[in-house]
Amino acid sequence: MNTRYLEILKERRSIYNLGKNVSLTDTELTTLIEGAVRETPTSFNAQTIRTVILFGDKHDQLWDIVANRLKSEVPSEQIYENTKKKIASFKAAYGTVLYFTDRSVVADYEKQVPLYAANLAPWAEQGLGGAQQNVWTVLADNQVGANLQHYNPIIDGEVRIAFDIPETWVLRGQMPFGSIEKPAAEKTYIDDQKRFRVLK
Ligand SMILES: Cc1cc2nc3c(=O)[nH]c(=O)nc-3n(C[C@H](O)[C@H](O)[C@H](O)COP(=O)(O)O)c2cc1C
Repeated sequence: MNTRYLEILKERRSIYNLGKNVSLTDTELTTLIEGAVRETPTSFNAQTIRTVILFGDKHDQLWDIVANRLKSEVPSEQIYENTKKKIASFKAAYGTVLYFTDRSVVADYEKQVPLYAANLAPWAEQGLGGAQQNVWTVLADNQVGANLQHYNPIIDGEVRIAFDIPETWVLRGQMPFGSIEKPAAEKTYIDDQKRFRVLK
């Protein structure tokens, strides 16, 4: 039995203390991220996932958008101070992957395959989840940490303008990545009996 991939899966964690001390080049990081998305399966091979990788000023710009946008959303100055710290921790990362679903492709398949029309949007999201986890894992396998955030939909309009995002791409997640400045705390697991059944 080969458990190598299981060991790599265990390496992937939500890393919240991210930094800029990454030894891989931007080209190498792009190769890993794009490769992971390209190899992720999608229903009917519809390839509905779109990504934008932000480095440098573009990465900073995203997290400035989030911080400014949240100012009008949080109820008090005190809470906003905590929010600002959290956003600063994402900005301290090296880069961010933005994940989108191209709804125009989903709509095409809904027309082409009416029998499964109701399933196509959920399947697109499942494919996206697979892509996010493949990127997260391939980065972890290269000692690059990441976490997954969801400031959509409140940032969608500003992100669309800032990064020239096509109208049909719907923002679904933001993944800051960078050097692992502090490892994740130990993870707890529910009892295996609660979630697994093996029948023979
Ligand atoms: C679909 C999905 C959505 C998530 N959304 C968020 C999020 O919005 N913010 C966040 O900090 N973590 C988010 N997480 C991270 C989970 O909280 C985390 O994966 C989980 O607690 C297990 O920890 P681990 O990633 O270290 O294994 C998300 C994870 C998944 C799979």
